[in-house]
Amino acid sequence: MTFRRPSPPADFDRLAVHYDWIEAVCAAGCLRRARNAFLAELTPVSPIGLIGEGTGRFLERLARSDSAAEITVVDASRAMLERARRRVAPTFRSRARVDYVQADVRLWEPACEAFGGLATHFLLDCFPSGELPGLIAAFARGLRPGGLWVVSDFRIPSGVMHRPARALVALLYAGFRRATGLGAQSLADPTPMLEDAGMELRDRRLFAAGVVYSELWRKRTASV
Ligand SMILES: C[S@@+](CC[C@H](N)C(=O)[O-])C[C@H]1O[C@@H](n2cnc3c(N)ncnc32)[C@H](O)[C@@H]1O
Repeated sequence: MTFRRPSPPADFDRLAVHYDWIEAVCAAGCLRRARNAFLAELTPVSPIGLIGEGTGRFLERLARSDSAAEITVVDASRAMLERARRRVAPTFRSRARVDYVQADVRLWEPACEAFGGLATHFLLDCFPSGELPGLIAAFARGLRPGGLWVVSDFRIPSGVMHRPARALVALLYAGFRRATGLGAQSLADPTPMLEDAGMELRDRRLFAAGVVYSELWRKRTASV
């Protein structure tokens, strides 16, 4: 039997230093609002996995909240992890405890039911649709029954925003492909994969005229 290793992960190292100002200039707070949409729901939860956390903006918000969580931050990019670590280090008056793991999440799998909560902000759109079902199933296995998973990402709404959103998303993919070697070329809807993985949608908020969403999913407690 032969095993094929996946291609190397997208390389966000070079982008890490520019990531925050690019977002500030281009997204005018929409991505931040999406990331924080379900902060209150995750605050009482522990342990929490922040997967593909990037420069650590959600980590910082969580750490500044009332959270006493054990937090595991996972990212393939050493530079992103370093920025996340530095962001919380100087002002870290938090009860939360943070571990940092540098890993390609296609090869990293959380221990079964290890987490009470997960957040994947603008991560799932980094993967081609063929890789998503396995990845989502592995993350879901890492959640306890009743555990929460916040998924934030881009979407292409119907109606008047359909064409502008398609153009914007195509532009984003072209830019990220050039800057990081991102393998994904288009946006896949993870909804059916999350449902197949035993998750149920609890709440959903839309931002930027419906082009950005944040969803709160909960792992079902018993098979139906
Ligand atoms: C688009 S950025 C999103 C960062 C952050 N979550 C946010 O909300 O801005 C995607 C992040 O996922 C990480 N990433 C991409 N592919 C990955 C992989 N295969 N394994 C682990 N991390 C990955 C990147 O290094 C980057 O930090």
